[in-house]
Amino acid sequence: MSSSQVFKVPILGSETIHVGYSIHDHIIHEVITNLKSSTYVLITDTLVAETKPYRDLAHGFTKQVSQLAKDARVLNYMVPPGENNKNRKTKAQVEDFLLSKGCTRDTVIIAIGGGVIGDMIGFVAATFMRGVRVVQVPTSLLAMVDSSVGGKTAIDTPLGKNFVGSFHQPSYVFIDVSFLESLPPRQFINGMAEVIKTGAIWNEKEFTRLEDFSKNFLSVINQPPPVDLSLIKSDLIKVVLESVKVKAEVVLKDEKESSLRNLLNFGHTIGHAIEAIVTPQALHGECVSVGMILEAELARYWGVLSPTAVARLSKCLSAYGLPISINDSIFTKRIGIKRELIKIDTLLDKMSIDKKNDGSKIRSVILDSIGSCYQWKAHEIPKVDLRFILTEECLVHPFDPEQTPKSTTVVPPGSKSISNRALILAALGSGTVRIKNLLHSDDTKHMLAAVSSLKGAEISTEDLGETIVLKGNGGNLVTCDEELYLGNAGTASRFLTTVASLVGLNSQAQNDYVILTGNARMQERPIGPLVDALRSNGSDIDYLNREGSLPLKIKSGKGLKGGRIELGATISSQYVSSILMAAPYADEAVTLSLVGGKPISQLYIDMTIAMMKDFGIEVTRSKTEDYTYHIPKGAYINPLEYVVESDASSATYPLAFAAMTGTSCTIPNIGSASLQGDARFAVDVLQPMGCTVEQTTTSTTVTGPPIGQLKALPHVDMEPMTDAFLTASVVAAVANNPEQTTQITGIANQRVKECNRILAMVDELAKFGVHAHELPDGIEIQGIDYKNLKTPSTENGGIHTYDDHRVAMSFSLLAGLCKEPVLIQERHTTGKTWPGWWDVLHTKFKATIDGFEPVESSTSSNQEVVSNKNSKSIIVVGMRAAGKTTLSKWISLEMGFKFIDLDDIFVGKFGDIREYIKSHSWEQFREQETIILEEVLSKYGTGFVISTGGGIVEDEKNRVELKKFVANGGIVLHLHRDIDETISLLSVDTTRPAFFSEIRDVWTKREPWYYECSSHHFYSLHCSNDHDFQLLRNSFSSFIRRISGLEATPVPSQRSFMLSLSYDDLSNVAEKLEDLSIGADAIELRADLLNKLTFDFIATQVAIIRQYTGLPIVFSARTTEEGGNLRKEQLETLYQWAIKLGVDFLDVSLDLPLEKLITILNGKLNTKIIGSYYANLRWTESEWEAKYNFAISLDIDIIKFVSQGISFNDNLQLEQFRAEHTLKPLIAFNTGDVGKLSRVLNETLTPVSLEAGQMTVSELNKAFADIGGLTTKKFWVVGKPISHSRSPQLHNSAYEKLQLPYTFDRFESDDPEVVYETLIKDNEQFGGLAITMPLKLGMMKYVDELSNAAQVIGAINTITSTNNKLLGDNTDWVGIKNSFIRSGVVSNLPTNINGLVVGAGGTSRAAIYALHNMGCLKIYMMNRTISKLEELKASLPFDNLEILDSAEQVVDSNISLIVSCVPADKPLDDSLLDNLERVLQQGKCEVFKPTLLEAAYKPTVTPIMRIAQDKYEWNVIPGVEMLVNQGEKQFQLHTGTNPPYNTIHEAVVNE
Ligand SMILES: NC(=O)c1ccc[n+]([C@@H]2O[C@H](COP(=O)([O-])OP(=O)(O)OC[C@H]3O[C@@H](n4cnc5c(N)ncnc54)[C@H](O)[C@@H]3O)[C@@H](O)[C@H]2O)c1
Ligand SMILES: [Zn+2]
Repeated sequence: MSSSQVFKVPILGSETIHVGYSIHDHIIHEVITNLKSSTYVLITDTLVAETKPYRDLAHGFTKQVSQLAKDARVLNYMVPPGENNKNRKTKAQVEDFLLSKGCTRDTVIIAIGGGVIGDMIGFVAATFMRGVRVVQVPTSLLAMVDSSVGGKTAIDTPLGKNFVGSFHQPSYVFIDVSFLESLPPRQFINGMAEVIKTGAIWNEKEFTRLEDFSKNFLSVINQPPPVDLSLIKSDLIKVVLESVKVKAEVVLKDEKESSLRNLLNFGHTIGHAIEAIVTPQALHGECVSVGMILEAELARYWGVLSPTAVARLSKCLSAYGLPISINDSIFTKRIGIKRELIKIDTLLDKMSIDKKNDGSKIRSVILDSIGSCYQWKAHEIPKVDLRFILTEECLVHPFDPEQTPKSTTVVPPGSKSISNRALILAALGSGTVRIKNLLHSDDTKHMLAAVSSLKGAEISTEDLGETIVLKGNGGNLVTCDEELYLGNAGTASRFLTTVASLVGLNSQAQNDYVILTGNARMQERPIGPLVDALRSNGSDIDYLNREGSLPLKIKSGKGLKGGRIELGATISSQYVSSILMAAPYADEAVTLSLVGGKPISQLYIDMTIAMMKDFGIEVTRSKTEDYTYHIPKGAYINPLEYVVESDASSATYPLAFAAMTGTSCTIPNIGSASLQGDARFAVDVLQPMGCTVEQTTTSTTVTGPPIGQLKALPHVDMEPMTDAFLTASVVAAVANNPEQTTQITGIANQRVKECNRILAMVDELAKFGVHAHELPDGIEIQGIDYKNLKTPSTENGGIHTYDDHRVAMSFSLLAGLCKEPVLIQERHTTGKTWPGWWDVLHTKFKATIDGFEPVESSTSSNQEVVSNKNSKSIIVVGMRAAGKTTLSKWISLEMGFKFIDLDDIFVGKFGDIREYIKSHSWEQFREQETIILEEVLSKYGTGFVISTGGGIVEDEKNRVELKKFVANGGIVLHLHRDIDETISLLSVDTTRPAFFSEIRDVWTKREPWYYECSSHHFYSLHCSNDHDFQLLRNSFSSFIRRISGLEATPVPSQRSFMLSLSYDDLSNVAEKLEDLSIGADAIELRADLLNKLTFDFIATQVAIIRQYTGLPIVFSARTTEEGGNLRKEQLETLYQWAIKLGVDFLDVSLDLPLEKLITILNGKLNTKIIGSYYANLRWTESEWEAKYNFAISLDIDIIKFVSQGISFNDNLQLEQFRAEHTLKPLIAFNTGDVGKLSRVLNETLTPVSLEAGQMTVSELNKAFADIGGLTTKKFWVVGKPISHSRSPQLHNSAYEKLQLPYTFDRFESDDPEVVYETLIKDNEQFGGLAITMPLKLGMMKYVDELSNAAQVIGAINTITSTNNKLLGDNTDWVGIKNSFIRSGVVSNLPTNINGLVVGAGGTSRAAIYALHNMGCLKIYMMNRTISKLEELKASLPFDNLEILDSAEQVVDSNISLIVSCVPADKPLDDSLLDNLERVLQQGKCEVFKPTLLEAAYKPTVTPIMRIAQDKYEWNVIPGVEMLVNQGEKQFQLHTGTNPPYNTIHEAVVNE
């Protein structure tokens, strides 16, 4: 093909589409000669303008015009690239340009670019001066094969793509394929989606060519640019030509979009709907690719398209790197969080308004085979079918006896075992065999690829891919240069290992060996016994990685010697089959002797032998020796045709359907002669249960008894057909003879399949109300009348399938017998053996199946909700004296884990460690330590805190174990403290063995090991008093909750602030931090400003912030470009350190290369990511948009954009940007004085600083209030009497400190109505109330919503007005809880702590609620009048309340928390005091000091407090603390902001 060759395609009667490679001269010539004009306008986008083909064309054009058409002029215009510029604004700009240049009706516009340019410039041409001539020069593949042909033009509107446009046929379309050389690979691949689509609907031959072209294509286009396309030039021209021809033909038959043209929309009905949601993160072709698969699945669901065709289509698309499902990682990586927006209802809505669909009817093209469409039109699709196709879960409706056919025939997919064997035998044989009904699975896929690489056979397909044609090469396999990759295909790897050892040398290949490899999982699976047997028979095989597993390197030319081969066959029959099948090609006849006892799965060995016979080799059994076979020398002769028997395990489902519904079903290709064990299912299981079974050698028909009359099967041994026991179980579930159960045994191996299948059946059957239980090697089921089946609750998730195909298929049968639809999860799991199962259920058995999408439980930001998802054990490592024991115990309290210490276990086994080392050796000690570690990890993998000896990391094996634990998502926590402190602590401790070297040296040596073995690091600051210790404890607890996932770091959803610290060492300001951080919601640690960049130093800094503020930490590190001090190369290590330190937020520069970012994101653990980008750009620049979309696609938690403010207008532009970008919390502002407004208006984590020129929280609040962002609000305390209430001081002091424009006053009244009428009604400034006696009940009727606490407590003390709604809450209980916590009681109580509430009034209710929330085991109640307690108890929804009224009860009450809620101004009743003293006397607690909270705050010290403190040494909390703590919560509710704790505390205490 010469480079100037031009192919012409006619469209609408004239040959105006010209295709070629580097044809700019031709283009110029044609235009100048045939389109005479005074003005030629070349319009392109700025990216295309930079490409060589464009420059050649534009340059040549100008030159030629100046020579050949002297009167004409050439104009050039460029627009910004991309879909978001395909709009009215850009169109207007182009038009204004044309007008300003005086263009007239004779103008010729030449649109050079992708589909965006073609569509938009085509539209300009269509309307400019009522239409001028246009020439399309498409430069993207998509534009070449699709958008440039057909005359459709359009622009986008904010409400939808392509909503405004027209038809305007171009005068010419010049397709110069050389333009593609600069096209980015992703765009290239994007265009391939449309190409594959065209093949799929129109031309099977072309489709096949595309299937073969993929490898070559990808290897060429993925070269570094500029790509050299010359290697695939002719292929590409053909690709373009074939697509263009189809499009031209369709356009001709049907110019203005009606039925035929609809065919080109294959994949677009669903694809467009997806695209509408995920654009611009995903491209059109990518969405269409997903759409095609879904629409093909729809066709299969209708029974129109074969499963093979769907498999072919998806294989072809993924071979080009296109996504084939919404959950495809190619896709999810690009769309990030938008994945969550793809909801079925949204998709259906989008489909209904797609302009290609009329009204709300949804139409789609139904493929009937590759290359052809069903009835050549689009079909109306019922929404239920779409819902089914689009969802992962489905609802099986009750089988309708009217609909269920009385008899059917079903052909299940081919047997996996037979398929695999047939391929190996055919590949070793000679002659051509047509294999039919082959199972398309991973195994067969890899097997076919490997056989073809080894030149074992030529492989092609017939009947649209349904038949595989293998032309065997007589066993003459040769080496190849590529590695044979087998994924996780177990059978393929076993069979091919022996085959590979027969391989000869390929003179054209460089390798004289074959490499078999697989994915990570495959590389763990054993192959040792087989390799041993082959090695001892002359093969030369090396393990390239781990001993006993793939990858293998197999030397060629060695072959098998033959003779006697011994093989242990108790592990896997696949080893046996592998050797059997290759044995005829050994140098001598083989005698294979299976040693070690009875081989497992004899049936499979028999199957192999029988199939070898079909291929001409007869194996004989030894007459003298057990389990021994003679295989003659020879070669396989391929039969002309081999039909793979259907899979007998799969066949059990349709047969069971017949049994359960009283109908008849035939499997036409499995009968009594079958080699498969499961073929006995009909005769051995269904027949005795009451079915009629007719079986020939090759077919089976089952007819069920009338529905409801199945009989139980007292006992069946299913050892020969273990996989079918799940089917048998669901049949047995409706075998209704109450006296008889069904017992199935011989299936112990089913516990270790995809899931523990026996347990799974027991659990899921229970959901139907069917009782079953496990037997040592089986299951026993008590069947019931099917009319009594319960419908498993959809709310609770319906039926779990454990991602196990057999569980899903079995329960789909039982589901249809229920009265209501049954939800089955993860329906795609059937794809493993029967992707078309649901289609059969739907089309053959006429079952109604609907899609189902779970409604997400509303993720409330309520921090009090605690979920403990991950109960994986936590391992603690660190130097001696690092506090491992103490802190481990704290972990165990926080997590509810049990504590074990490896040293204790050692001592328990071997006695004192020092003695042991003396009498043995350090080495032996370490050895035992390793053994103990391994044992502990295997036994105590979940629910334990495992504390280890300091030297555990010294041993390599231990380090490997620890790292493995981390790699599997476990926490290894390295605890550390200042090394000088450690030394001084150790030197006074003589009970421990001395170190051999100085402790400091030991630390230096171990430090890197601790680092590499741990996932997290916690640095304990030095504690010099109880208060410090308390702070340490609190900060450690919250650290543990965060890193374990027990508590998620909340991303602020309201106006929030981040204090940016610019100190070089925080230890100088530690004590001041709390005051500095007033009003802040997080603290930013700027690593680049610190005076040392070591891990140790940074760990200290993090510890200081944690301990002294308790606020979430934002870790950031800025480069010089971002106004910091670092180089880009330094960032990654710092980020890793920060994650290890468990910081709450990590600020990551979006400027890092993508792979780096992905590495960081993948390793982020529970740290949230702030993706930041600093650029000195105006907010209208498209780069912000691009970075935003990039961040969205990475699923960054918070996006941070910073620009340098140049003019005030930057702030206004930023607000526009902010308003349009709301998918994720956005921190965006301009720096400098000029940018102040943007910081005032920023919502999330606005940076504040104490530096000159920066703004503080109060300044930001004030400015925001001054411009009306925060409006004046009024609050009151109401009740009577309230003259002594301290609420006004509390709130006002905080308003002032934070500069909030609010006031807090007193309003005395005991009449709710007066309060409402005066303060609330029609008062726009009303902000909220603090409510005291006697209004706590009376005010409730005015609120619109009540918190849970207020409902339970039955009273409110707070009203907040938000969004014109009044919310009622009760913060007294929070006051009680937080007072306890602030005085040293742990937030998550150990399980055995009991509490006591004295009194029976309103506060007692709040106290009980608080103790319950804290997790008290029992809550005792005490009061003078018992009847009041009874009432109280009855009115509360807790079942752990107990009234305490006798001395005996106190004896073992074990109470360590008391809340006293009795008035302090009257003396206590004697007997009550008596009991109380008893409680105080016996009070003890190991974890904290027993604590009493006095709810009354007058007088400051009450009699109860005095007794508790002085006489019984309890920790006592005065009432004001409760007041402050409840006020803190009230303030949060009222304002959405945290009050400065010290300020409000002072305001209340220093009256
Ligand atoms: N009219 C129709 O019948 C029809 C059919 C299908 C699609 N479309 C429209 O086509 C548009 C999509 O077309 P697209 O995928 O070509 O997008 P596009 O025009 O945005 O091009 C994709 C990107 O590739 C760049 N590019 C194009 N050619 C290049 C080259 N040779 N070298 C380097 N970079 C190059 C572009 O600048 C752009 O950044 C959509 O707007 C869609 O609605 C129209
Ligand atoms: Zn398209």
